[in-house]
Amino acid sequence: MSILYHENSKTFHLYNDRISYIMTVMRNGQLGQLYYGKRIRDREDFSHFLETCERPMSSCIYDDGKSFSLEHIRQEYPSFGTTDYRQGAVEVRQENGSSISEFIYQGYRIEEGKPALAALPATYTEKAEEAQTLFVTLADSVTGVRVELLYTIFAEGGVLARSARFYNEGEQTIRLGRAMSLCLDLPDRDYIWQQLSGCWARERHIYSRNLEPGITSIGSMRGNSSHEQNPFLVLKRPFADERQGEVIGISLIYSGNFRMQAEVDAHDTLRILAGIEPDAFEWKLECGESFQTPEAVMVYTDRGLNHMSQTFHKLYQKRLARGYWRDRVRPILNNNWEATYFDFTEDRLIEIASKAKECGVELFVLDDGWFGGRNGEKAGLGDWKPNPERLPNGIKGLADRVEGLGMQFGLWFEPEMVNKDSDLYRQHPDWILSTPQRRQSHGRFQYVLDFSRREVVDAIYEQMAAILREAKVSYIKWDMNRSITECYSTAWPADQQGEIYHRYILGVYDLYERLTSEFPKVLFESCASGGGRFDPGMLYYAPQGWTSDNSDAVERLKIQYGTSLCYPVSSMGSHVSVVPNHQVFRNTPLHTRANVAYFGTFGYELDLNSLTKEETEEVKEQIAFMKKYRQVLQFGTFYRLESPFGGNEAAWMVVSEDRRTALVGWYRVLNCVNGRYTRLRLEGLDPSACYWDRRSGQCHFGDELMYAGLITSDETAGQTPGGVEPCTDFESRLYVLEVE
Ligand code: DGJ
Repeated sequence: MSILYHENSKTFHLYNDRISYIMTVMRNGQLGQLYYGKRIRDREDFSHFLETCERPMSSCIYDDGKSFSLEHIRQEYPSFGTTDYRQGAVEVRQENGSSISEFIYQGYRIEEGKPALAALPATYTEKAEEAQTLFVTLADSVTGVRVELLYTIFAEGGVLARSARFYNEGEQTIRLGRAMSLCLDLPDRDYIWQQLSGCWARERHIYSRNLEPGITSIGSMRGNSSHEQNPFLVLKRPFADERQGEVIGISLIYSGNFRMQAEVDAHDTLRILAGIEPDAFEWKLECGESFQTPEAVMVYTDRGLNHMSQTFHKLYQKRLARGYWRDRVRPILNNNWEATYFDFTEDRLIEIASKAKECGVELFVLDDGWFGGRNGEKAGLGDWKPNPERLPNGIKGLADRVEGLGMQFGLWFEPEMVNKDSDLYRQHPDWILSTPQRRQSHGRFQYVLDFSRREVVDAIYEQMAAILREAKVSYIKWDMNRSITECYSTAWPADQQGEIYHRYILGVYDLYERLTSEFPKVLFESCASGGGRFDPGMLYYAPQGWTSDNSDAVERLKIQYGTSLCYPVSSMGSHVSVVPNHQVFRNTPLHTRANVAYFGTFGYELDLNSLTKEETEEVKEQIAFMKKYRQVLQFGTFYRLESPFGGNEAAWMVVSEDRRTALVGWYRVLNCVNGRYTRLRLEGLDPSACYWDRRSGQCHFGDELMYAGLITSDETAGQTPGGVEPCTDFESRLYVLEVE
């Protein structure tokens, strides 16, 4: 890996063994983008990549010709207002009302490793040799604003991390109306755009479309990254698939309002922008102040979607997630939410926990309803003290009893919210985000605390820390069950109201940072009504997230498959729940529910006492199985094999680092009579190793399994030959393949 600067041609070349990223200082002093893609050899001058062709009717900068129009030039960090009519990366508003700026190259420096970003989650290095960071400085002479563009190239994988830092070194207060994390101008639009979209209980389904002239965009204006759109996009060449072809993935490490967009111009060039959503954003920068954008991560590969995903998985597992739990297999948990909802007592919880312990569960989690006057959705949020009617011995008493059973204890919080029926609200009615003289809209009867205020974050921190200091809590589920409306903070002046959404998220990050620092061994799981804030920003603090409130095995196929495009298996909270399922009322076999949930953190979302004797024995086997294989399942290399979006079947697999163990999950939604012959071509195996298939007792070589395929045809469909267990709808199989 290296970052080179060619003095004569003023060209930067960032490269490792997979990618090259090349940019140059153009004749007008601005930065031009020359190349991004597969590694190419270095040379002194790449200026032939700079296309400045003469186009009629263009707005030009120089008197000497018609060819230098920013409108048609690929740039690095374009600004609003001169000759580029596409949407730009930056907009600086001056006191006189002008919004024009022109950022001119000033200089650069290179550092080994990667700097932390002030108050924001970001990828990191542990050793300086893992990455190099280029800082390119640009300045606008009229406003005196300086911007530093940060580019970190990692030694491993086709990974570039980018962000921008603004410094107001002028003599007037300015306002940033737009400060994107990344701009990427590409020479053509011959890509399929893929996004992860959905809604509550249907998160992160994969949607694809062609890029046509104009703007294609996704984003969130909800204050959280949202169920609806995920801050992640893929650009893949039309013929690229899971196994081969050029793919670019862009991921934003941010949990608040965001925008990611592709703009195709009249000449089919493509501009990608990613960063904080510019609508409802304006950041005031007094003289001497600075502003750091969130980080965006770009992954390029010419080896298909699976390889792109694996690159993200590894980076986010090892160099975004942090702390004690980063590299550890996750405890198998039992959460009481779907077992009891709000209806429980301490003894009832112990009854559930005892059965869980008997089955081998390691962590019992008490969900919503344990605090203040929380007997339902309408009261209690904000009062993080145990309800003595439900928990006469407090959290400590319950935690001690659970620990006494030989299990760990976990607890649910929703730190950012308050019900009006709470002591916190009665004492501080001004602590919610709301606009004066306007209606206060609720979501699930709750209001959003103003986390842009330090004293609010302090107060919640103190309440949570008091519980964690007193009781042995090993896990926290941090929930967030509504988006922001009427965003306004009475603590901030009128001309800083455009900062509140971002300041809110900074407050959330601050609380996470303080809690994870004081309680480094507590495992945090993020949650927002399921997967409403399942983003890389959260992964920095919480190495796992509740993927969706929808725990139906069939629904989960699409949700987990889509999520895997960017996020590792170790980050996906996935549990076995009861049938009929509480979200879709579907009956799926117990083994299928487990076969889906194994590809995640694994746990149970039910009262195991409610199962039959046979089912209990099956659960015990599932737990023993997960304990044996979770290292591979959670930290192995994950491959998508067959998409649930394509038809009736789905499949995925993981392979251990030493390639001696592979686990293949195969799923069929509806049974069919006399079905076709089916095979799964596996991936990532050692071609010459012999893998024992534990289901059939047969041995297959890795090359057979990868090139001829694992035969999954169903011998029981249509008829039930003697002695063979008939298959039905929602069938699944887990193939365990091991080299002895
Ligand atoms: C939403 C979460 O996603 C659920 O798992 C549960 O914790 C409820 N909130 C509790 O209110």
